[in-house]
Amino acid sequence: MTADLLATLRAASSPLLDAARERDGADPLAALRARFALPDGVYLDGNSLGAMPATATAAMQAAMTRGWADGLIRSWNAEGWHMLPVTVGDRLAALMGAAPSEVLVCDSTSVNLYKTFCAAMAMRPGRRGVISERNNFPTDVHILQGAIRGRFPEARLDLAEDDDASVLGLLSADTAVVCLSHVNYRTGRLRDMTAVTKAAHEAGALVIWDLAHSLGALPVDLGAARADFAVGCTYKYLNAGPGGPAWLYVAARHLEAAATPLTGWQGHAAPFAFDIDFSPAETIEKFRCGTPPVLSYIPLMESLSVFEATTIEAIRDKSLALTAFFIELADERLARHGLTVITPRDGSQRGSQVALTHDDGWPIMQALIASGVIGDFRAPDILRFGFTPLYVSFEDAALAVLALERIMETGLWREPRFAEKKLVT
Ligand SMILES: Cc1ncc(COP(=O)(O)O)c(C=O)c1O
Repeated sequence: MTADLLATLRAASSPLLDAARERDGADPLAALRARFALPDGVYLDGNSLGAMPATATAAMQAAMTRGWADGLIRSWNAEGWHMLPVTVGDRLAALMGAAPSEVLVCDSTSVNLYKTFCAAMAMRPGRRGVISERNNFPTDVHILQGAIRGRFPEARLDLAEDDDASVLGLLSADTAVVCLSHVNYRTGRLRDMTAVTKAAHEAGALVIWDLAHSLGALPVDLGAARADFAVGCTYKYLNAGPGGPAWLYVAARHLEAAATPLTGWQGHAAPFAFDIDFSPAETIEKFRCGTPPVLSYIPLMESLSVFEATTIEAIRDKSLALTAFFIELADERLARHGLTVITPRDGSQRGSQVALTHDDGWPIMQALIASGVIGDFRAPDILRFGFTPLYVSFEDAALAVLALERIMETGLWREPRFAEKKLVT
């Protein structure tokens, strides 16, 4: 039954699907779906790995043949390879309310968090408090724990709960750095960046925002919020592909004082002088470390061209409409099967994903994936559905709920094959 479920649902006459298709007909972003290569079925996991921009294959091919095979070493200059962390950062800046010179595309989110955290701590000498959150993505807390152990042994890490008030309650005159996710990776809850940043500044602390689940999904204005530092990845809503390079943001007012702890040769003021003593660049390039993975920047640039064909406000409008539609249908058709929406219903507090809980979340998600609807599972009991407005339709949202409803009604998920654990969830 699994392979045919989507085809059967699509072909059946359904007022719900008709309504969804009507909304797709009126969707100003609908044409952008064709700019992605998507498999058959419904893809609701762009919050984990975004779809491939359709032009990425040709762009990669050109980078390989013209850039690598023919150009070889000359391409570091001729193809602008050496400056990709900066030039792609300049393009990304527009999506986060940053000035072009404030963003660098490099390394992984984890590494960039280490760099910005160490920089921020060194800018608040004498203070010992570090605040993060209990339900943060683990790498964020792991990085803080490791950096504290290795470099700031006097510091103390306090973990707040999901609500912003809990963060504010931990702030004190001893707080050095606050490091939070803007959108929670499990629940999809959105924090009030402006209010939290303001409160942290009033306490004299610096703030680092992790925008892994925000950038490309909703408007972000780091400048207006007076954020100090930010980090994020590009392989989720920014569609850069598996392991695409991450980015970091340093507010221009901190560029002089902020120092990277990873003093690699590419962060040197004159890397090709091969001076044996490290002397940092004066620009955001001081946060470079080693050689950039050039080929990984290519799909990101293709994806940014799609973003440049619309506005982040239009993306947010559709995201809120899609997630509200999905939540409404989940309440109507899935709640009676024990699937509970845990994502905030108030759009102003929600990112671009919807999370449902169920004690048997793992086998249910495996049955759904086998039926052609791809979401993912986060332990212990969360089924996550990401809504990437550039390529997800209202029909996709409706089909996902209908397929899930059928799987619950038939008990398909109880088949032993769906209980089998996998390495990556
Ligand atoms: C909030 C957040 N931070 C960081 C990461 C991962 O960081 P890295 O790119 O270093 O693996 C993720 C991955 O899902 C995430 O959700």
